[in-house]
Amino acid sequence: MLQGKTVVLGVSGGIAAYKIPNLASRLKKLGADVEVILTENAGNFITPITFEALTGNRCLINTFDRNFRFQVEHVELAKRADLFMIAPATANVIAKIAHGLADDMLTTVFLACQAPKFVVPAMNTRMYENPVTQDNLDICRRYGMKVIEPARGYLACGDTGAGKMPEPDILAEHILLELACEKDLAGKKVLVTAGPTCEAIDPVRYITNHSTGKMGYAIAQAAAFRGAQVTLVSGPTALAAPLGVKLVEVVSAREMFEEVTKAAGEQDAIIKAAAVADYRPAYVRDEKTKKSGGQVSLELERTDDILAWLGEHRQPGQFLCGFSMETQNVLENSREKLLKKHVDMIVANSLREEGAGFGTDTNVVTLITQDGAEQWEKMTKFQVAHRLLDRVFKDSGKNGGIPDSPPDMGADF
Ligand code: CTP
Repeated sequence: MLQGKTVVLGVSGGIAAYKIPNLASRLKKLGADVEVILTENAGNFITPITFEALTGNRCLINTFDRNFRFQVEHVELAKRADLFMIAPATANVIAKIAHGLADDMLTTVFLACQAPKFVVPAMNTRMYENPVTQDNLDICRRYGMKVIEPARGYLACGDTGAGKMPEPDILAEHILLELACEKDLAGKKVLVTAGPTCEAIDPVRYITNHSTGKMGYAIAQAAAFRGAQVTLVSGPTALAAPLGVKLVEVVSAREMFEEVTKAAGEQDAIIKAAAVADYRPAYVRDEKTKKSGGQVSLELERTDDILAWLGEHRQPGQFLCGFSMETQNVLENSREKLLKKHVDMIVANSLREEGAGFGTDTNVVTLITQDGAEQWEKMTKFQVAHRLLDRVFKDSGKNGGIPDSPPDMGADF
């Protein structure tokens, strides 16, 4: 995902520096060329050798490095960088970069660098909340740097509050969002639904299904990586919202219907990966149902079919894609849904197929359109997501609804 990209990590002297080898290692595994620059103070928390072992690159500390090659390194590295992230960024380093000071290797390369810049403050709450630090962060923002807000929590100094560096996986996601893909969907609006719905029986119990949301979340994340403006309407899942995606949390099919129909009008494409309940209890009891002898039965009523509603109220040029999970007659049943719900595409998968189904990281899908069926080999849900987006926006172009359909770039991951 980061093949051919150079990421420069600037590490300043805060205790969170101990987490940055983890980030460097992740980025390296994603294919990036990772260059690390430490401030002198960071060297008190973590050694250059750790980074050198992980990245395969010489870790830089100060401008007047004993190795002559590094005398001009600040300019060469600044030019080569595709992204520069300072993490952790201490109050001192933030003050320096806000005012253009360049008195060591880190701040010198940073000043010379024109690539996207991320600043990740991590410090004691009082230092972070000090108006001087806040003003300096505002200056950084004004100069186009992206400031990643610190998390709140227990800090190394014993205080609790804002100032905790976000975990390396979150920092890596920021870098991926910036660098992983061409922004070929910039300007497009995509609505994705994901996860199951839960239909209440009483205050304690509900009816649901096995959907984990992985496929829908992968589509939302892939679309965001490619620059689309993404709204993700999700039933309850254990997944974190992908970065750069507007998450709208719902529980029931009725709530999903309301949120989807509210946002539908402005979307270029809607991809309905959610496993929406077709039925809900006809009455939701106010109190917990107590058991009694013998059998009980539950009266169910139909929910609204959201995809069918979208098919009937489609905006001109809008692309509609549904999903279909079957255990038998996959193609026939899915083709029927394509016609009945008036959509452009159904992504069909079988619960019987190895590598497909609920909770897996892979999927085996067949794309069904008016033109026919196209079976795809087993691939990760991210690969499916990217190839699906390629097709959605290519076919949208065909319909004349969305101009500038992107090139067929194939799967990136
Ligand atoms: N869907 C929806 N609203 C519903 C039920 C389903 O929007 N109330 C959408 C799903 O998000 C999916 C597609 O319709 O994109 C197919 O859903 P599925 O439940 O597999 O098919 P159904 O049309 O409900 O048909 P059946 O239950 O008979 O398989």
